[in-house]
Amino acid sequence: MSKLAVVYLSTQGSTRMMAEAIAEGAREKHIEVRVDNFYEWDPKDAATYDGIAVGSSTFYYKMLEPISKFLDQLIAEGVEGKIGAAFGSYGWSGEAPIMIAERMRESGMKVIDPVLRVQYVPNEKDLKECLRLGKDIAINIKKMTKKT
Ligand SMILES: Cc1cc2nc3c(=O)[nH]c(=O)nc-3n(C[C@H](O)[C@H](O)[C@H](O)COP(=O)(O)O)c2cc1C
Repeated sequence: MSKLAVVYLSTQGSTRMMAEAIAEGAREKHIEVRVDNFYEWDPKDAATYDGIAVGSSTFYYKMLEPISKFLDQLIAEGVEGKIGAAFGSYGWSGEAPIMIAERMRESGMKVIDPVLRVQYVPNEKDLKECLRLGKDIAINIKKMTKKT
């Protein structure tokens, strides 16, 4: 079965809400999903998934340092050709998801649009977008795993 890893770091729960909605959307398309805070993940394990969505809120105009390290470790395991997605809550500048997507692309992942950013706490409309992204990720993972 195709598998999606959703990894996030969230200080007050907004990025976490996005992560849970993305996971729910992907599950609706019948793929196996594991969603957890980054510290519950071993990057080696996450790298075995067909798709990897990474989320971080923006702090001081970048992603949070622990998730940046996690991303480095993940990429070092080899993620070329896998499906990627980036998301996160922000307050006023919102660089983190863009930076995550950039690093994913540089490492050869196929990043699904949109790179999803939500200002502060997600509302119902925002969560619908997260759900939609989860579905799109799942559809792309299924397409990819069919080919190989
Ligand atoms: C100390 C601090 C620094 C922050 N720096 C930024 C920033 O540079 N750019 C931005 O867009 N938001 C910034 N924010 C806002 C957070 O990204 C925002 O509150 C977000 O909703 C937190 O999401 P989370 O609960 O998933 O961590 C900052 C917040 C704090 C407390």
